[in-house]
Amino acid sequence: MKEEKVNPTAINLPGKRDASFNSGDHLLLIVEDDSPMLIALRDILSAAGYRVMTASNGEEALKALEQEKPALILSDIMMPIMDGIELLKTVRRKPYGTTLPFIFLTARGTSEDRSAGKMLGVDDYITKPVSSQELLAAVKSRLLRSGELAMIAQLLAVKDSLRVLANAIEHKRGHVERVNAYAQLIASELGWDSERCNTLELSAILHDIGQIRLPDAIVLKPGPLSDEEWIMMRKHPEIGAHMIAEIPYLSPAVPIVRHHHERWDGAGYPGSLEAEEIPLEARILAIADTFDAMTSDRIYRQARSPEIAYEEILSQKARQFDPELVEAFIRCWDRGDTAEILSINFGDDQF
Ligand SMILES: [Fe+2]
Ligand SMILES: [Fe+2]
Repeated sequence: MKEEKVNPTAINLPGKRDASFNSGDHLLLIVEDDSPMLIALRDILSAAGYRVMTASNGEEALKALEQEKPALILSDIMMPIMDGIELLKTVRRKPYGTTLPFIFLTARGTSEDRSAGKMLGVDDYITKPVSSQELLAAVKSRLLRSGELAMIAQLLAVKDSLRVLANAIEHKRGHVERVNAYAQLIASELGWDSERCNTLELSAILHDIGQIRLPDAIVLKPGPLSDEEWIMMRKHPEIGAHMIAEIPYLSPAVPIVRHHHERWDGAGYPGSLEAEEIPLEARILAIADTFDAMTSDRIYRQARSPEIAYEEILSQKARQFDPELVEAFIRCWDRGDTAEILSINFGDDQF
């Protein structure tokens, strides 16, 4: 059987954005009352591929904002009718303006300006005269940063929604959070970077999502499952993998979800994969999942003590579990990290 490779890089995390940066995707608003300066700025930014709209004071800028929403505002401070400080204040009060990148372009750069701007949440200052290189670097870095922040916010929102959904489906309170927490302990022992840890977290959240397609009579059965029911139950990894396969953002989690019930000795399911044929993330989840299952109350039985569960994990070294990962788990246990997770209330009483 061939190893199913996990591709953690399919998740496009911050850091990769620079390579895919395209200035043409961004509309900028330049606000400047000195028209030669305004033209010079517009020309530099347009030549770099940005789409540019212009205004000669704050009031004009606000009118322009009613028509279109730029990705960034570059504004002079001292202007007639409405100055840059007033413009920034007004923009920050608008729903779309709270996180809109805002750069002040100023000849003064006095400390009062700077502290006023900082208080109001300006992102950066460029002091005139400005070279085109300096201008382009400042604009690009702000756009990249805001793209990263937007992506992180999106990522957190997605994870939160998935977590709520997964827990609701599983009827096992806090299960996915604890499985993730134990899995992350082991991953940190392996020195994984944040990108790989992120894939692991998504997989932990989703590992049992396939149970949604199983009848409650099986998932919630207060006693042991019959042979037939076991056959159904054992389908959940494949059902789950199938469910998330079409969502590009979740695709790295697919092989991990599919193989989280494989065993190191090849006696697991659904692929009877053996040892390193099993994706490493799935081997980690197997330990985390089993440890949490044993230490949590289930409908059909009471929780076992952490010490008994720990001994059980150790006894399955090189049988159910990857021996090296069991060693990593032992180090986490010895440091007290596992006990710390056991003491956390992962919203258990929210249901
Ligand atoms: Fe499972
Ligand atoms: Fe599970």
